Amino acid sequence: MRKFGLIGYPLSHSFSKKYFTEKFHRENIRDCEYDNFEIKKIEDLPVLILTYPNLNGFNVTIPYKESIIPYLDELDQVAKKVGAVNVVKISGDGKKTGYNSDYYGFRYTLERWLGTDLKRMKALVLGTGGAAKAVKCVLEDCNIKYRTVSRQEGKGDYIYFDFTDDPDLILEYRLIINTTPLGMFPDLNEAPNLPYETMDGSFYLYDLIYNPEKTLFLKKGESSGTRILNGLDMLVLQAEKSWDIWNE
Ligand SMILES: NC(=O)c1ccc[n+]([C@@H]2O[C@H](COP(=O)([O-])OP(=O)(O)OC[C@H]3O[C@@H](n4cnc5c(N)ncnc54)[C@H](OP(=O)(O)O)[C@@H]3O)[C@@H](O)[C@H]2O)c1
Repeated sequence: MRKFGLIGYPLSHSFSKKYFTEKFHRENIRDCEYDNFEIKKIEDLPVLILTYPNLNGFNVTIPYKESIIPYLDELDQVAKKVGAVNVVKISGDGKKTGYNSDYYGFRYTLERWLGTDLKRMKALVLGTGGAAKAVKCVLEDCNIKYRTVSRQEGKGDYIYFDFTDDPDLILEYRLIINTTPLGMFPDLNEAPNLPYETMDGSFYLYDLIYNPEKTLFLKKGESSGTRILNGLDMLVLQAEKSWDIWNE
């Protein structure tokens, strides 16, 4: 039996176990299983790997996407550039290589969604955490200029107050990507503080959140006529990319 899994903490609402278990069933893949490995600290990883000699690879989620790096033997080019890992492959000789499939999931969905409009976009990235790192890397590789927004002065290019204070500032950025957890289940009534009333049909709002399917951020954008996209397709694509990496 080839074993795969997810490490992170906490893992109660994780998507991956359900996704891979259903995939193995649907595609009649009988020699694989996928489990959650909830570890309270990253220092517990070496023991976990020793405990499961049939572990062929695993996904990595909050809060270990960066702290896992010193535990790996190699990083692929994209993971190195992003500075975060969400897929690890363990080869026959025990070598552990880190990858970033969030990058692929985000890039593919963004290019498919925007098509030729992508080239003339200037983007605003909300949040400065792990997901933002992959998003910024994709924007750079697609030659899209961007600025970041943080709650904290000095951490990004703007703070939210800059936009509520001067609503017309938002008109410089037609692609707005939410990489914060604001509005994620169960906090459905929260959204980044932006002048949504200034937006119109020329705006694209992309929320990396997939639960709920339509966050307050997307609802507010939609009410102003913007185009919207949630994180569901990105989530599925990053999972499928993980599967490809483990089977390469
Ligand atoms: N669809 C997918 O495949 C996919 C993949 C990866 C992640 N995600 C989603 O992306 C989101 C972020 O993930 P992450 O790993 O980057 O998380 P994270 O590192 O915990 O947080 C992201 C950033 O959001 C900002 N933030 C946090 N709490 C906030 C609050 N209460 N109000 C405003 N801003 C806040 C912070 O930036 P500042 O301190 O600078 O404000 C933080 O660095 C999650 O909802 C996750 O589920 C989706």
